[in-house]
Amino acid sequence: MKKLILSGLLLVATTSFASEQATQTTDWTSSSLRQAVSTRPAGDAIRGAKLNESLMCSSCHGKEGLPPTHRWPAVAGQLESYTYKMLLDYQSGARSEDNRANIMTAVADLMSEQDMSDIAAYYASLPAPTLAQQPVPALVTEGDKDRLITACASCHGLSGQGGIKGTPAIAGQTAETLKRALQMYRSGNRDSDLYSVMRQASQRLTSSEIDSLANYYSGTN
Ligand code: HEC
Ligand code: HEC
Repeated sequence: MKKLILSGLLLVATTSFASEQATQTTDWTSSSLRQAVSTRPAGDAIRGAKLNESLMCSSCHGKEGLPPTHRWPAVAGQLESYTYKMLLDYQSGARSEDNRANIMTAVADLMSEQDMSDIAAYYASLPAPTLAQQPVPALVTEGDKDRLITACASCHGLSGQGGIKGTPAIAGQTAETLKRALQMYRSGNRDSDLYSVMRQASQRLTSSEIDSLANYYSGTN
């Protein structure tokens, strides 16, 4: 039954939102975000693993959190608090930047806070991908002082592992997801980031810098 409802919703989500842009802004404050995340029900990773199958998350994000194609995001090893925040953002419509985000809005609509917390616990329990040895773009470690760009590593960690003041892991994220995220923050269509941190961090990036950062952070062993 759930499966039927879900495929119906996905169909609606993928067909009818093509020209819609995000109109809603969010009002996360550091205290409302802390409150929402810290008062979530305790996550049960074993139940989360079952939900990952029964709600068909695994068809796009993989059984072990690694997607079958680079078109869908990797979720393995992501911080529990971040997965939970993303699911809240999709459910509330705070993330609704385009028709691909709206796939997730339709999915998250079916979930309780307990479901979200359990799935977040499951994803966090999976081994996170690690970055390949490769030349590191200067923007990652140094940023660009002339253009007031802060080094990505100062917030996401030297290995892209996240966790610094709640930042997400970005190491081993799929290239298309990284690219889309940076483009969407840059255009302001993705606007549920607290204090606009990512809208600011991406604002002065050129498209070729976005490509090279996406290549770097998606490169895994
Ligand atoms: C039809 C494919 C599909 C299904 C099914 C699906 N997702 Fe997604 N998911 C996506 C896409 C596409 C995105 C990225 C959307 C975007 O870029 O705005 C995404 C994004 C996410 C994100 C945010 C990832 C990030 O790094 O920003 C989370 C968390 C997530 N999905 C969890 C789930 C869960 C939990 C389920 C099941 C209840 C699920 N998804 C089902 C396609 C899917
Ligand atoms: C001041 C701290 C800060 C800096 C600097 C920063 N980030 Fe972020 N980043 C964050 C936070 C916080 C989030 C979560 C925002 C949200 O909730 O949407 C985030 C989210 C992201 C995401 C979305 C992840 C996902 O899967 O949803 C990507 C990709 C990303 N950052 C890449 C970068 C890159 C590349 C750089 C360097 C150009 C960078 N960030 C610099 C704090 C930062």
